Amino acid sequence: MPGKDEYIAAIDIGTTKIVTLIGKMKKNNVLEIKGYGISECHGIKKGIVRDINEATKSILNSVEAAEKNTKMFIDSAYIGVTGKHISIINNWAEISIHSPSKIIKKTDLDRLLANANKLTLAPQNEVLHTLIKQFVVDDEKGILDPVGLATEKLAVELLVVYGSSTLIRNTVNSIRGAKVEIEDIILEALASGEAVLTPEEKDSGVVLLDIGGGTTDVAVYKNKKMIFTYCLPVGGDLITNDISVGLNIPFSKAEEIKKKFANVDYNFYESLNRVNMDDIKIDRNKATLNIRLYSIVNSRVKELLVLVKEKIESYGFMYSVPCGVVLTGGVSQMKGIINMANTVFSLPARLGVPSDAEGPSEVVASPIHATGVGLIKYAFQLKDFSAEQPEERKNGGLLARFRELVNKILKN
Ligand SMILES: Nc1ncnc2c1ncn2[C@@H]1O[C@H](COP(=O)(O)OP(=O)(O)OP(=O)(O)O)[C@@H](O)[C@H]1O
Ligand SMILES: [Mg+2]
Repeated sequence: MPGKDEYIAAIDIGTTKIVTLIGKMKKNNVLEIKGYGISECHGIKKGIVRDINEATKSILNSVEAAEKNTKMFIDSAYIGVTGKHISIINNWAEISIHSPSKIIKKTDLDRLLANANKLTLAPQNEVLHTLIKQFVVDDEKGILDPVGLATEKLAVELLVVYGSSTLIRNTVNSIRGAKVEIEDIILEALASGEAVLTPEEKDSGVVLLDIGGGTTDVAVYKNKKMIFTYCLPVGGDLITNDISVGLNIPFSKAEEIKKKFANVDYNFYESLNRVNMDDIKIDRNKATLNIRLYSIVNSRVKELLVLVKEKIESYGFMYSVPCGVVLTGGVSQMKGIINMANTVFSLPARLGVPSDAEGPSEVVASPIHATGVGLIKYAFQLKDFSAEQPEERKNGGLLARFRELVNKILKN
């Protein structure tokens, strides 16, 4: 585990790009990104390795670019994972407090968490995170640190995030093929949430949407904790594909048009006179072209947002997220998408870029790098560094201690 003022590396394996970042947590709790390397991603789509040699080559390119950029050697890194194989399960455990004083001690907590960790998953699955949602002390809910309280009965509610062992192993093997050891594996939605959400949003309730090239990672936060996550295997590549097919142009040209001109709001097109008609060898009628582009991106983006909304609704979270929706990832830069999210969800919506991070502006101010920056932030959170903490807490907060119980894959 890293100490403060110590550099660590993180690798964000996205569908469109692989980013390796090097950063450290400064003493004032601001993250410093020293540098990064970026490569095109081949062999991995939507979080799933399809060609191990291609994947390893892409990872190596990204790692070497980061080493060149920072003049530092990377021998180990924190890795982000996502994909539709990721699932969650809620778990619950409780114990009685036997001591005469009924005061909860650290050893009671260890006993409770050991009980909670007895959950058995099907052998094809691997636990990624066991996150504490809340403690319940007698029947009082929402307790975040119960040590020192008096009670007869102590309970914990957990969110267990797990994924397919073989798919995670393929990612691990592609990284190891690039001669990088893995420090830990972190869910990408959790990393992005760490990078872009404010403490108040996480406390009051918020939905995070990281819309990338191949996946939309969703996370719901309430009472300072992630309480739900979900990966929809749909992202910006599908919008590009629709434009490519709809306008009968190559994917690369469609991608360019999407980034430069696409807007989900029709009003924008009325004033648009910048599309280079010579480049698009199809319809010469600008008005028709604009209507087509509008209807393609409007319907696809709306469909994506509605799918996420329906999922959130089906779990009953719509009334527990007063801070609304925070959009990040490359597609959050699509013109008009924030207003559309506001309308679709009937909740406030904003763009999420990394906060409390210093370094190259193209990284620390960009929603495309929310996951990468968040991986470094989350890695530092896995250890409780605060010098003000009592001695027994310095060696790892609850999160870190519980984390040690997982990740069998990394040990063999
Ligand atoms: N200005 C823009 N307008 C619309 N879309 C954009 C814009 N900039 C980037 N994108 C889209 O964002 C997507 C890439 O986002 P991002 O870099 O977050 O994805 P990724 O991390 O590679 O993939 P994933 O996380 O889905 O595996 C691409 O589809 C790209 O076209
Ligand atoms: Mg991504």
